[in-house]
Amino acid sequence: MGNLNTTSSAQVVLPENRSYHVRFDSISSLPFHLAELGVNFDHCLIVTDTNVGDLYQATLVRKLEGAGASVHSFRLPAGESSKSPELLALIYDFALSKGISRITPIIALGGGVVGDIAGFAAATLLRGLPLIHVPTSLVAQVDSSIGGKTGYNHSAGKNLIGAFYQPLLVLSDADTLVTLPDREWTSGMAEAIKHSLIYDDRFFSWIEDNLDAILRREASVVASFVAQAASIKCNVVSKDEKESGLRMILNFGHTFGHALERSLGYGNITHGEAVAIGMRAALFLSSTRDVHEIDRIELGRIDRVLSSIPVPDIPESVSIDALCASMNTDKKRTTASLRFVLLRRLGQAYTTIDVPNEHVRAAWQTALDR
Ligand code: GLY
Repeated sequence: MGNLNTTSSAQVVLPENRSYHVRFDSISSLPFHLAELGVNFDHCLIVTDTNVGDLYQATLVRKLEGAGASVHSFRLPAGESSKSPELLALIYDFALSKGISRITPIIALGGGVVGDIAGFAAATLLRGLPLIHVPTSLVAQVDSSIGGKTGYNHSAGKNLIGAFYQPLLVLSDADTLVTLPDREWTSGMAEAIKHSLIYDDRFFSWIEDNLDAILRREASVVASFVAQAASIKCNVVSKDEKESGLRMILNFGHTFGHALERSLGYGNITHGEAVAIGMRAALFLSSTRDVHEIDRIELGRIDRVLSSIPVPDIPESVSIDALCASMNTDKKRTTASLRFVLLRRLGQAYTTIDVPNEHVRAAWQTALDR
């Protein structure tokens, strides 16, 4: 059970002095890392939620105050419904009432919801405040805190309003993952497995070898699992910050997954569960190609790993017709045809718009066992 990656940091490399590190370290080390970066945190704001705030806010505030900071904390209600214009307005009101200036850092302490909305607040308050992510969920540590996507939901759909706004630092503490509910852990696993499938066959083999330990969240593997998955995200974002090319491969399984989330109703399936099912569908499509058809042995290996992610039953009332119709409303749709991310082989993804409708239907049937 070796640790393929024992690094204590990964880096997003960007032009114009905007590169930043993902530090794999304790929450308590935040003042040290801020000081090392030269960030002025004499006065700072923490945005968190009611769940994460109960667990980690006091520690973080104590450490920052111990280093001389004056800290104000704002708590959102936990859950996706907080990614709303109403909650954003409350963050604005709170921040402006505390006398912020353009050097006041916003520290986003929490999972993807907190990171997205606090990130957007940081991007827009006073035309941009320093942003620090302290992600505490697996999805946030391996995916959403890295790469600068911020935003909130509109009644017309999720994440329809937002901005790319990169943080100065991501501080990722694997110890916070022990308190995650099981369902959030396995949902986050889907995104980390996705990173291995699209980019790094050695990481996939490591996951295969350590699958039971990862499922049990054994301390001996968790930190390495997070670091390897986060490093892949850093590499992809460094090569394509604004998703004009390579970064699209991070959407492997998402064209199908988003359709499932929309059709079932958000809250009835997690994003990671929908992506896990979506990846099975995308793998089926990958096996139907005339060129780049993926190897059967690799398909079997991937299927075994994906099967370890528990997913809810999709009721027959959610028809394949409805799912296909829902795919056509995806916001990531950039051309007249739908874009799919497929695998050429383990660790190598490509995008295509050239997929016959009957193959898409067959992919749904296979992924949903119908
Ligand atoms: N979660 C996909 C991306 O950040 O591009």
